[in-house]
Amino acid sequence: MIKELIEQNKVFLKDTPEVYFSPGRVNLIGEHIDYHGGNVFPAAIELGIYAFVTKRNDQQFKVKSLQMNDSPIMIQMNDLAYAKKRGWANFISGMMAACLDTIPSHGLNIVFYSNLPSSSGLSSSAALEVLVGVILNQTYALGIPRKQLVQIAQDVENNYIHVKCGIMDQFAVGMGKKDHAIFLNTDTLDYELVPFVLKEYKLMIANTNKSRQLADSKYNERVNECRAALEIIQKDYKDVPYLSALELTDLEAVEHVLKDDLLFRRVRHVVTETKRTNQAVDLLKKGNIKSFGELLNQSHMSLKNDYEVSCHELDVLVDAFLKEGAIGARMTGAGFGGCIVAIVKTSFNVANEQQIQNIYTSKIHLHTDIYQANPSDGTKKINIEELL
Ligand code: GLA
Repeated sequence: MIKELIEQNKVFLKDTPEVYFSPGRVNLIGEHIDYHGGNVFPAAIELGIYAFVTKRNDQQFKVKSLQMNDSPIMIQMNDLAYAKKRGWANFISGMMAACLDTIPSHGLNIVFYSNLPSSSGLSSSAALEVLVGVILNQTYALGIPRKQLVQIAQDVENNYIHVKCGIMDQFAVGMGKKDHAIFLNTDTLDYELVPFVLKEYKLMIANTNKSRQLADSKYNERVNECRAALEIIQKDYKDVPYLSALELTDLEAVEHVLKDDLLFRRVRHVVTETKRTNQAVDLLKKGNIKSFGELLNQSHMSLKNDYEVSCHELDVLVDAFLKEGAIGARMTGAGFGGCIVAIVKTSFNVANEQQIQNIYTSKIHLHTDIYQANPSDGTKKINIEELL
């Protein structure tokens, strides 16, 4: 498949390309926590974006996406400011502006091919940002350590694309490891790779296929609400550095100082989700998958009722999976559409998928795409000979 795509694009590429792959990510638990200094537990997945890269004789960058039906886009080194008309390629110009201090001796042709559904909450933008960072780093021997590259990618998303996201997506994409999930402290960026062993269960992802147009503005709204809540709390409790530092036992006092039901529910989600995440990692390490699944269910209820980032489509899909025997199911990512993640028995099969499809289509009039998710390696160069 990949070899065929390279063959089909040989006129554009003009030479045998180097091939890179960048995964999407799924968050297992710890949702809307990475901008509160707490711990999150995502994993890179096998779906992602491939890049076929060849050198040019001039200093320009010519890029093309096999998913977008637009003509190839030229990016000039002396014109890297964000430009609306550049569309998806702003992720590339943003990373170029952040990584390249000097004009490189030669430019690149890059063809992107993605099997990651875009706008599905599986971090296609983080996958693209880190992918471009790794290509630039490797091609021009920039020597940027991977953790720093991940931070640069987040900075591009925050200050160039203007989405106030946390570090989780770029970190999971850049630091993922096959068969492992990443237990990440978003305050210190310390992390632990935890073997992802589900025994008689497996992990599934299902896409609501609901367009997430409002997601970015709603996301920024939650960030702002929580900033406001933290400011009020800090007036009375100066030593609270961020919301995830609060304990369950602090909630009563927090409710008292906030005097606002909406802000209180936002904070309650952060505090309970932080606790659930730490517990979930312990349970997974002990092989207690059933209780791990139960925490996923609790996480969904909290995201739905307290943080209010779920939507009807996500809720219907979660319920359909539970009806078909899932031991845990929840929305994953920013919410307002996108995907759910579920833990099901290994015997879960196409008949179960069909049942879920029937329930979803009858209630929502949309189709859901269901995938098995396996934790994969982070962004890397791949040997063309290894490809099918
Ligand atoms: C989006 C953001 C992440 C994170 C999740 C919610 O994916 O990019 O930083 O906040 O939402 O957990």
